[in-house]
Amino acid sequence: MKVAVTGGSGFVGTRLVQGLVDGGHTVHVLVRNVEHALSKLPPGVTGAVFRAGEPLGPEALAGAEAVVHLAGEPVNQRWTHEGKRRIHESRVQGTRALVEAMRAAGTVRRFVSVSAVGYYGGTRSAEPKTEESPPGEDFLASVCRDWEAEASRAREAGISTAVVRMGAVLHPEGGALHAMLPPFRMGAGGRVGSGKQYVSWIHREDALAGLRLLVENPALEGSFNLSSPEPVTNTEFAHALGTALGRPSVMHVPGFVLKAALGEMSMMVLEGQRVVPRRLLEAGFTFQFPRLEEALKNLLA
Ligand SMILES: NC(=O)c1ccc[n+]([C@@H]2O[C@H](COP(=O)([O-])OP(=O)(O)OC[C@H]3O[C@@H](n4cnc5c(N)ncnc54)[C@H](OP(=O)(O)O)[C@@H]3O)[C@@H](O)[C@H]2O)c1
Repeated sequence: MKVAVTGGSGFVGTRLVQGLVDGGHTVHVLVRNVEHALSKLPPGVTGAVFRAGEPLGPEALAGAEAVVHLAGEPVNQRWTHEGKRRIHESRVQGTRALVEAMRAAGTVRRFVSVSAVGYYGGTRSAEPKTEESPPGEDFLASVCRDWEAEASRAREAGISTAVVRMGAVLHPEGGALHAMLPPFRMGAGGRVGSGKQYVSWIHREDALAGLRLLVENPALEGSFNLSSPEPVTNTEFAHALGTALGRPSVMHVPGFVLKAALGEMSMMVLEGQRVVPRRLLEAGFTFQFPRLEEALKNLLA
């Protein structure tokens, strides 16, 4: 199958492209810098320009039968008025332009749009969130809600659509784990804020396997949580990471210190969600790394 991947130059996208190629698919990436992206990707991958917020012609999809949408402004930037506008616009208008191009192209049968567990809102509650749980009300939740609403419009064009709410993807090459490793390696890691907030995490290999399952199974429509079946609290996460590294993890960063340093964006760490991947488990998906200790052991070996 020919699969177009937006954000094919990113932390998740580059590995997803490799996995799709290994699985026998033909891959076309939609990125801001085609030459740079293709230099990091396997031979045979093609590309076209996609800038979220700008119109996209149907020819950019190059006859793709499936589209995976990963592109968007990083959310881990300062949430200034301008930063928030960029985050919201890149995701909402970017998805709108992509769906318009898919409708016009007429070749796309399957759409997998990747959102985030932030959909459920930042909370310190331990209440499990399944795909049926309502959205939250903070900034990230409203971005995810508007972004998913745009993605879901592909269904009106008869395109089978899955919206994926992904947890924190763990791999030393990028994302949360990459950011946490330096202080933890120095023995300066530990819980942040109350430590009771939940972290919904997923080993990158499981995230990639889940995305491939969804690309290849158009019968799986609607929302899917993509995070390990065993989320942990921030304190448990810090302890597991310290243990995996053989380093102490007893430091504590008080919430007000993080708020002073990062502003409103600190809520991404000080609050969390206890997310359960109910629909993927019901679909028979098997997590290779359901437990954090084994995931970290594998990632840090
Ligand atoms: N990593 C996680 O833990 C995690 C968790 C939940 C959800 N997600 C979501 O999953 C997606 C992929 O995550 P990731 O970690 O791979 O992100 P990433 O490494 O930041 O990659 C994002 C991709 O989006 C592209 N991009 C950024 N702004 C853009 C814009 N204005 N127009 C067009 N393309 C733009 C980037 O292209 P350039 O190469 O040109 O910069 C890059 O290819 C993102 O939407 C992210 O929010 C990630």
